[in-house]
Amino acid sequence: LVDHFTPKRLAGKRVLLTAGPTYEALDPVRGITNRSSGKMGFALAQAAHRAGAEVTLIAGPVHLPTPAGVRRVDVQSACQMLEVTLAALPGQDVFIATAAVADWRPASEAEHKIKKDGSGQTPQLAFTENPDILATVAARPDAPYCVGFAAESEKLLEHAQAKRLRKAVPLIVANLGPATFGKDDNALLLVDEQGARELPRAAKSDLAVQLIDEIAQRLAARP
Ligand code: CTP
Ligand code: CA
Repeated sequence: LVDHFTPKRLAGKRVLLTAGPTYEALDPVRGITNRSSGKMGFALAQAAHRAGAEVTLIAGPVHLPTPAGVRRVDVQSACQMLEVTLAALPGQDVFIATAAVADWRPASEAEHKIKKDGSGQTPQLAFTENPDILATVAARPDAPYCVGFAAESEKLLEHAQAKRLRKAVPLIVANLGPATFGKDDNALLLVDEQGARELPRAAKSDLAVQLIDEIAQRLAARP
């Protein structure tokens, strides 16, 4: 009912999102991952669809239903997420990176389960840095309007501004973690070239609608 009166601010636009954690395998039964429920990304995908956009959602391993009308592609690792993202990129107007991408993956994935050898010795793990999906997309000549997320445990504004410049994206959405992880509500700080604007604590679904509105306004104002 409410939907009926909401202007379709993203009508005719295409929105691509990443959401959830990534899972980086160590062997067939173990891996490393990040803490992320995927709730914010899924709420944003739903809000973007309701705003009239054609939405593609690239999701790491999460336990969430696909929002109605949204095209979803499931992936595991950061490398897979990058590959699927780049394949889906042509024709997109907006890219929203909400995924909690694992910054590192095990340098090699063992073909078989790593076994204890009985000596009490622990495996020596080596890591490789994962590709930065958001920075890779933002650096492309055909880059859509890019939105990054930043979960920080301190100095929220300072870290968010630095991240915005480092990744060369117009908008960073910052929140204080890990207190917000898995919760149904959050408070967000929008950091763009104009400065910072706070979206006060609210349900993630409400914040998603507000955020999609903010993104649509910035997209419309783009030269
Ligand atoms: N991101 C990404 N690919 C990565 C790492 C991060 O696309 N390999 C995206 C996230 O989806 C988020 C933004 O970049 O939108 C910021 O992620 P964050 O982890 O906060 O930044 P990092 O650059 O990884 O810095 P750090 O973890 O050291 O704070
Ligand atoms: Ca990171």
